[in-house]
Amino acid sequence: MTASPAFAGDASAGSDVFKSECAECHSIKEGRNKKGPSLFGVVGRKAAAVPDYEYSDALRAQSAWVWTPEQLHSYLGQPAKRANPGTKMKYDGLNDPKQLDDLISYLGTLH
Ligand code: HEC
Repeated sequence: MTASPAFAGDASAGSDVFKSECAECHSIKEGRNKKGPSLFGVVGRKAAAVPDYEYSDALRAQSAWVWTPEQLHSYLGQPAKRANPGTKMKYDGLNDPKQLDDLISYLGTLH
């Protein structure tokens, strides 16, 4: 059996990816929202589920989305406005597959 690519990353390298790509807008502290919502516990969480964060209607409309590693792969691997037209997340996507795997492994440690 081979591990799913989404789980094959190096979380400590992913922490550096997070700092350079995401930390400007996202905190990893529970309850701390910046421009974007806190990403504490994001893996396994439903989309638009942080209670005191004001999401766009576009993301709120994705109530069937759950932030699985696969969903995060698809969301973060392309411009956010293509993954979710109308979103207020202004991010062009991470196109390095290794950095993406590392980042998602790191996000999985935030519990
Ligand atoms: C320029 C600011 C900005 C950057 C950079 C950014 N984000 Fe976001 N992010 C946002 C905003 C704003 C939202 C809320 C989107 C909405 O409501 O449409 C968001 C939403 C999200 C969500 C959905 C959260 C939820 O509770 O449903 C995830 C997951 C996410 N971002 C991950 C990331 C990751 C990982 C990175 C780095 C690769 C990143 N973002 C980079 C601003 C940003």
